[in-house]
Amino acid sequence: MKRHDRTRVSPQKQLLLGEEFIRAFYRLTQTVKIHRENNRLLIGCAENFVRSFEELDPREDHLFLQQINDRLYFQGEKLLYRQETVSLFDKVQVYFRNRKLRGIRFYQPVRNASFRQILSFARLLNRSEQQQAPGKWLDRTLAKAGLSWAEIVCDEKNKPAGNQQERRERARKIYSRVRSSVEEVAMKLARNGRPGLGKTLRMTQNMVDLMMSDEPLFAALSTIRIYDDYTFCHSVNVAILSMCLGRQLGLSRRSLERLGMCGLLHDLGKVEVPKEILTKPGRLTPEEFEIMKRHSLSSVRLIVRIQASRDRKARLLLPPFEHHLKYDLSGYPRTHRKKPLTLFGRILTIADVYDAITSPRVYRRSVLSPDRALGLMLEGAGRDFDPILLKVFINMLGIYPVGTLLRLDGDELGLVIGADKKTGGRRPGVMLLTPDGNGGYIKGEIIDLNEQIPGTGRYRRHIVESCHPAAYGIQPPDFLL
Ligand SMILES: [Fe+2]
Ligand SMILES: [Fe+2]
Repeated sequence: MKRHDRTRVSPQKQLLLGEEFIRAFYRLTQTVKIHRENNRLLIGCAENFVRSFEELDPREDHLFLQQINDRLYFQGEKLLYRQETVSLFDKVQVYFRNRKLRGIRFYQPVRNASFRQILSFARLLNRSEQQQAPGKWLDRTLAKAGLSWAEIVCDEKNKPAGNQQERRERARKIYSRVRSSVEEVAMKLARNGRPGLGKTLRMTQNMVDLMMSDEPLFAALSTIRIYDDYTFCHSVNVAILSMCLGRQLGLSRRSLERLGMCGLLHDLGKVEVPKEILTKPGRLTPEEFEIMKRHSLSSVRLIVRIQASRDRKARLLLPPFEHHLKYDLSGYPRTHRKKPLTLFGRILTIADVYDAITSPRVYRRSVLSPDRALGLMLEGAGRDFDPILLKVFINMLGIYPVGTLLRLDGDELGLVIGADKKTGGRRPGVMLLTPDGNGGYIKGEIIDLNEQIPGTGRYRRHIVESCHPAAYGIQPPDFLL
């Protein structure tokens, strides 16, 4: 198979490649309906289809064709409709719709697939139209046929039909799988091994899928705080918060995946910091702090050791290196550069600090409620943090972010479940928590703090203060997820 060169593909070329790929894909699925295996036309179609992967940007390890809101996306970029392509695109959209498909990912091993495998993939895809749940059916049959280079993205998997409980369970599952994939990578590195990134990358793609299909649920995942598992949960939370911020900025799907990966890997270097320092309850001595400060550079060194293409690793190095550098370039590691931090570095810094100061840890007493954390961070706008990004971040989370615990007048406790746009987040929607008599709390009524006493113009309830859920032994995900 032809080796592709290592130059980058321009965005314009990428769009043309997208058109070519869609043409090859559609011809293959149609020709296989009519002709037998030894037909020259069909052989040509399969060859054309595989050739599309050779032209792919060498930085990509997979090819992704999606349909979102009646538009086709290739590698996360929207394809333009041209006169020459409009009818083809329409046909492909109908093809996707008839099979309830949102997208198909093709991983690099497809380049080594045999002619027969390509044809059986196309046949199965065609046949899935007759199934009740085409996505699930394809998942099963593709796996059975050994065609794991193709991954089906569909609503059935992303949004289990209207069942909130299933969606929440799926979200929690994604969270714990992402967390364990980061832990696996870290542990292997700690034992001087050379882990790969495949699993973590797939998990990140699942996170992007979840974010695209259910953003509030995805954001609520970042309220998961596990006391004795801080490092890995922190990495996942930083990834989630960064991706949410990235989405607000309109980043492409590909960029969101890379940003998520940077979030997951940013603190890898902590595996080289002695546990006594990592979990020390009080202030670190200057010597201990010097050791702690090495972890960003260690993260970079460890990422280099991972088994992945040079290009892929190169794109993951800078943001973890920068994550403790401040907007004014102070912080660590010390740098004499004049160039500002990268966009991803500035995003990670915000997500990293926010999660760190709102996460209770067994070995640290001080922890801030989300709104106080944002207030404190605002004091560092322009010095510690990019002021514009911080503003977007605060707007995104609201004054009282989801998962904040509010003490209301009348001694009620309310857990913030959603921002309110009317009052700029000052009077969010809350779930009342009532004592269960055993020192815990149970779900109570859901109320809108905007609710007024009829005829008086006065609000029914007022916020006295925000408190950290941990102070009451409350884990927001138990109520939110
Ligand atoms: Fe860090
Ligand atoms: Fe961190």
